[in-house]
Amino acid sequence: MNEPKIADKKPAMLELEPGTYWWCRCGLSQKQPYCDGSHQGTSWRPVEFKIAEKKRVALCNCKHAKTVPFCDGSHSKL
Ligand code: FES
Repeated sequence: MNEPKIADKKPAMLELEPGTYWWCRCGLSQKQPYCDGSHQGTSWRPVEFKIAEKKRVALCNCKHAKTVPFCDGSHSKL
Protein backbone atom coordinates (compact mmCIF):
# COMPACT_ATOMS: atom_id res chain seq x y z
CA MET A 1 0.00 0.00 0.00
CA ASN A 2 2.15 2.86 -1.32
CA GLU A 3 -0.61 5.43 -1.57
CA PRO A 4 -3.12 6.16 1.18
CA LYS A 5 -6.75 5.36 0.43
CA ILE A 6 -8.89 8.37 -0.41
CA ALA A 7 -11.53 8.22 2.32
CA ASP A 8 -13.42 11.18 0.87
CA LYS A 9 -12.70 14.01 -1.57
CA LYS A 10 -13.81 16.66 0.85
CA PRO A 11 -12.53 17.57 4.31
CA ALA A 12 -14.26 16.90 7.62
CA MET A 13 -15.42 20.27 8.96
CA LEU A 14 -15.39 19.95 12.73
CA GLU A 15 -15.44 22.09 15.84
CA LEU A 16 -12.91 20.46 18.16
CA GLU A 17 -12.57 20.74 21.90
CA PRO A 18 -9.06 21.11 23.37
CA GLY A 19 -7.27 17.78 23.46
CA THR A 20 -5.10 15.29 21.62
CA TYR A 21 -6.35 13.61 18.47
CA TRP A 22 -5.08 10.88 16.13
CA TRP A 23 -5.79 11.58 12.49
CA CYS A 24 -6.07 8.59 10.12
CA ARG A 25 -3.12 8.61 7.69
CA CYS A 26 -3.86 5.42 5.75
CA GLY A 27 -7.47 6.18 4.80
CA LEU A 28 -8.68 2.74 5.91
CA SER A 29 -10.28 3.77 9.20
CA GLN A 30 -14.04 3.35 9.54
CA LYS A 31 -14.00 6.29 11.98
CA GLN A 32 -12.80 9.03 9.60
CA PRO A 33 -11.08 11.34 10.04
CA TYR A 34 -9.68 9.55 13.09
CA CYS A 35 -7.59 6.41 13.46
CA ASP A 36 -9.32 3.17 14.39
CA GLY A 37 -6.23 0.96 14.13
CA SER A 38 -6.90 -0.15 10.55
CA HIS A 39 -3.34 0.84 9.52
CA GLN A 40 -2.10 -2.37 11.19
CA GLY A 41 -0.08 -4.31 8.65
CA THR A 42 0.64 -1.26 6.48
CA SER A 43 3.58 1.16 6.62
CA TRP A 44 1.26 4.06 7.51
CA ARG A 45 0.96 5.52 10.99
CA PRO A 46 -1.65 7.91 12.37
CA VAL A 47 -0.74 11.57 12.90
CA GLU A 48 -1.09 12.96 16.42
CA PHE A 49 -2.19 16.57 16.72
CA LYS A 50 -3.19 18.79 19.62
CA ILE A 51 -5.85 21.44 19.85
CA ALA A 52 -5.11 24.05 22.51
CA GLU A 53 -8.43 25.85 22.47
CA LYS A 54 -11.82 25.11 20.99
CA LYS A 55 -11.73 25.82 17.28
CA ARG A 56 -13.17 24.98 13.90
CA VAL A 57 -10.94 22.89 11.65
CA ALA A 58 -11.00 21.23 8.24
CA LEU A 59 -9.38 17.80 8.58
CA CYS A 60 -8.15 16.19 5.38
CA ASN A 61 -10.09 13.11 4.28
CA CYS A 62 -8.41 12.62 0.90
CA LYS A 63 -5.07 11.89 2.67
CA HIS A 64 -3.13 13.86 0.07
CA ALA A 65 -2.82 17.24 1.80
CA LYS A 66 0.73 18.61 2.25
CA THR A 67 -0.41 20.10 5.54
CA VAL A 68 -1.78 16.99 7.25
CA PRO A 69 -3.89 16.58 9.25
CA PHE A 70 -5.41 19.79 7.86
CA CYS A 71 -6.95 20.23 4.42
CA ASP A 72 -4.96 22.37 1.98
CA GLY A 73 -7.27 22.03 -1.01
CA SER A 74 -5.30 19.16 -2.59
CA HIS A 75 -8.51 17.11 -2.80
CA SER A 76 -9.62 19.31 -5.70
CA LYS A 77 -6.74 17.96 -7.84
CA LEU A 78 -7.54 14.25 -7.34
S1 FES B 1 -9.56 16.72 1.97
FE1 FES B 1 -7.44 16.34 1.58
S2 FES B 1 -6.67 18.27 0.95
FE2 FES B 1 -8.79 18.65 1.33
